[in-house]
Amino acid sequence: MLPHLSPDAAKALREALTRARYTTDGVRSLLGAAAHAALGRGEPEPAHRVAADADALDVLVRLLLLGSVEPDAAVAAALAPLTPGDAAAAGLLVADGAGWRAALDLRPYGVADGPDWWVLSDLDARRQQRDHVTGVGAASLTLAAATVRRPVGSALDLGTGCGVQALHASRHARRVTGTDVAPRALALAAATFALNDVDVELVDGPWLAPVTGRRFDQIVSNPPFVPGPARVEFVYRDSGEDGDAALAALVADLAGHLASGGVAQLLASWLHVRGEDWPDRVRSWLPAGCDAWVVQREVADPALHVGTWQRDGGLDPASPAGRDQARAWLEWMDRTGVEAVGFGLLTLRRTDAAPTVVFEDVREPFDDPLGPEVEGWLDRVDWLRAHADDTALLSARLTLAPSVLLERWSAPGPEGWTAVGAAVGRQDGPRWRHEVDGPAADLLAGCHGALPLGELVELLAIAHDRPTDALVTATLPAVREFVRHGLLVPADAGGWP
Ligand SMILES: C[S@@+](CC[C@H](N)C(=O)[O-])C[C@H]1O[C@@H](n2cnc3c(N)ncnc32)[C@H](O)[C@@H]1O
Repeated sequence: MLPHLSPDAAKALREALTRARYTTDGVRSLLGAAAHAALGRGEPEPAHRVAADADALDVLVRLLLLGSVEPDAAVAAALAPLTPGDAAAAGLLVADGAGWRAALDLRPYGVADGPDWWVLSDLDARRQQRDHVTGVGAASLTLAAATVRRPVGSALDLGTGCGVQALHASRHARRVTGTDVAPRALALAAATFALNDVDVELVDGPWLAPVTGRRFDQIVSNPPFVPGPARVEFVYRDSGEDGDAALAALVADLAGHLASGGVAQLLASWLHVRGEDWPDRVRSWLPAGCDAWVVQREVADPALHVGTWQRDGGLDPASPAGRDQARAWLEWMDRTGVEAVGFGLLTLRRTDAAPTVVFEDVREPFDDPLGPEVEGWLDRVDWLRAHADDTALLSARLTLAPSVLLERWSAPGPEGWTAVGAAVGRQDGPRWRHEVDGPAADLLAGCHGALPLGELVELLAIAHDRPTDALVTATLPAVREFVRHGLLVPADAGGWP
């Protein structure tokens, strides 16, 4: 039987959880930073030691986060007005001797400047079931942090699972639709939305089939992106198609479901196949009429890819079953010429203009969320399109972004240190960095927004004793890159179109 939270049960549960302060702040302050962090690492004992009282919050933390069996009276008091029997009927609890234990994972989830939600997903104990519904994991958080959060009319969360991306979308989209192919995922998403009193339309079916003929202002998806042989061991990660074929088909279909100017963002994996550059492979998936920004964040060799996903699925790579599976998976990679697997974020925006398509490798770690950077990238692409000809760019007033620093490096020589190079880079976002020569560094130093770029280049030509035309030809491609990476920003009001 699938979990089901009726509107009345959801309301009663919400009341109980709120009263008990079973919220991100409430749980964090009960546990304290150290026990909270330990629990996040899968070490529950410190939390057991601090959540040891009879208070409702302690009971709920033990019941829902620590997997304890709690006595009937304590559970009844903590969940009132929902009775333990009602919670069991909803699929949330199961009887265990004279007490109750959790049958689902129910935990608070909050965003820094926003509301607190509760997310329902499967317990880890169910991890090896084919239709296991994952909670908010690293990939969910990566996508949530990378998503554009500008107000939109309609948003689609494809493969909604526990519903986390749809919850986020409900803050900035007037209408939110979630899809999933797994009945259990749809049931848990429905329960998450009911518990949070968030209105999300849920539709059942694979990929974009349930929204045939519909267009959205925004599409987000953390799809089953793990490439392997065509099989479904776990619905949350296996597409059932060979390699990255399902993702290729999904990407190609997205344009037909985006409204004009609509943006789709997905986590994706692509194969690095012998004799083929990964951007060429992903480029072949891209639909016409879309700007595309493909950011590769990680590359795993075959052994690392297989071992990582075996452990993620709870299979010990050293066990007999783990070795059999790894052998078959690695042989499939050999047969198909797979040398590595790339992972990253793919952003598409429907446009009537000539599309801009950019592939970037950004494998260095950085903490800033990618979402504001994606918003900036889309704006900068528009601005660069409006300034596509050199005359328009030369008439623009640009200013250096506040986080940009110039670094110079020198090598020891007979006369002491000798300058051998310089680079400019942003100290925020993905830390974009470009090596620069003397004229480019001087040009950037002059970008205060006072003079049009063309006048700055003329002054530079005089200072460096070079023909202006040659300097224009040499610097404008770099200026476009500086703008695209947000090192230079338009000085005029509002900055972007
Ligand atoms: C990695 S989970 C993501 C869950 C959630 N959106 C998140 O960000 O944490 C992938 C989800 O896609 C669903 N899924 C798998 N195959 C699908 C398909 N062919 N069409 C739609 N959804 C699918 C799975 O059931 C699962 O809920």
